[in-house]
Amino acid sequence: MKRPVVLMLLIAVSSLGFGFLSCAKGKKEAEKGVKTKWIIGMSQCNLGEPWRVQMNADIKKAAEAHPEIEVIYKDAQNDNLRQRAHVEEFTGTGVDLIIISPKEAAPLTPPVSEAYRKGIPVIVLDRRVLGEDFTCFIGADNKKIGKAAGRWIVNRLGGKGKVVELKGLMTSTPGQDRHSGFVEGIKGSEIEVIFEADMKWLEPAARQEMESALARYDKIDLVYAHNDPAAHGAWLAAKAAGREKEIIFVGIDGLPQEGMIYVKQGILEASFEYPTGGKEAIQTALAILNGKEVPKEITLSSRVFTKENVETGGEWLKE
Ligand code: FRU
Repeated sequence: MKRPVVLMLLIAVSSLGFGFLSCAKGKKEAEKGVKTKWIIGMSQCNLGEPWRVQMNADIKKAAEAHPEIEVIYKDAQNDNLRQRAHVEEFTGTGVDLIIISPKEAAPLTPPVSEAYRKGIPVIVLDRRVLGEDFTCFIGADNKKIGKAAGRWIVNRLGGKGKVVELKGLMTSTPGQDRHSGFVEGIKGSEIEVIFEADMKWLEPAARQEMESALARYDKIDLVYAHNDPAAHGAWLAAKAAGREKEIIFVGIDGLPQEGMIYVKQGILEASFEYPTGGKEAIQTALAILNGKEVPKEITLSSRVFTKENVETGGEWLKE
């Protein structure tokens, strides 16, 4: 294509984008009778898991109280390239702020960095990107959660036992931190990790990996899964093999409609809460848009839910 044609196309595409944004603003103004001042682009890595649906719901609820903002949601359906395109689209159409919960750190770093360098504030939620080119990171301390899970497991097994570890996507930072924290937590004990696998945060993959572990080992004392869907998948595999009663299952997320229910049902013995940060993301976005300074990192607290405490609000993790 000749250069002037490319240029014209670019102008046409970006004015379409701006048209879309001002149309969104106009619609909201008409509905609420309040002027929308700011458009926020929210890039979610997938909406296939309850935890991510909850994050978007938390964002929506917090944003609804502020008619001056409009949030545009994009779902990358667990595809790095699609998520990259979404962030680039937000940057190209000139949103006022971007919130991103990235799938993987490395592939999402360049588009986040580009947006940030062009002057668009970026809030990174839950999973990290590489480097420092973002405005604020919000998330719970996964290393601390992994360590607390490790200590809880040492205590529960009396210092000794055979454990299966079902890891989250190891190219995403929560998977890395939940693993390294756990290793620290079990240090000095006689806990033996006899089987470990990357279940990529997905329940069907976790179930399949657990089937392999069950086929290979006659004795498994406990499954430590990096999220509740994986812990549940492992439990389903054990149940199908008639071995679910001889194994303890521990997960992470602690959603009221998922992990907490599993704990109440006795499927999981413990679930460590991983807050979505949706509400905090909107609070922080508003602070940034109103010209206030925000910290580079906001760390959310986390609780552990067990049968003993799930009805009374869980127990906060200590240092
Ligand atoms: C959902 C999820 C959660 C997990 C988080 C980690 O996609 O897998 O279950 O806690 O992502 O980023």
